[in-house]
Amino acid sequence: MSNRTFTMIKPDAMKNGHAGAILDRIIKEGYRVVALKMTKLSAEKAGEFYAVHKARPFYGELVEFMSSGPIIAAILEKENAVSAFRTLIGATDPAKADEGTIRKLFATSLGENAIHGSDSDENAAIEGAFFFSGLEEVK
Ligand code: PPS
Repeated sequence: MSNRTFTMIKPDAMKNGHAGAILDRIIKEGYRVVALKMTKLSAEKAGEFYAVHKARPFYGELVEFMSSGPIIAAILEKENAVSAFRTLIGATDPAKADEGTIRKLFATSLGENAIHGSDSDENAAIEGAFFFSGLEEVK
């Protein structure tokens, strides 16, 4: 089991001024920030990142949304990071997310749900490498 996950604070949370509160919560929950950057994805890059969802009906909407404004991308470290972080962010649909989770507190809707968290150790490594070179990681 790896102790790293990858996250993005999505354009809705950035636009609504929640980035600081979300990062504060992540750090207070004991995650070490290994790498962090603010950037804006082109539609092409967002499409590449979410290519695994290409066949799903919401793919176009997801790509458009994720390229609509700045995001913050980060690699995080904590014991059992992937699973612990998915619990911290809550269900994909904020209406179904548990009280106190990041999506319950800050997400707008199913499509605009504030934050991403990798769903496996393998994807955490792939997604982290999509945004960061090894040189950008704090050892
Ligand atoms: S997951 O994380 O794979 O278990 O969740 P899943 O429900 O399969 O969703 C995958 C990503 O697609 C986004 N999503 C949507 N976007 C727009 N519209 C609709 N209806 C929709 N449903 C799901 C969801 O936020 C997931 O994005 P990430 O960035 O992986 O959280």
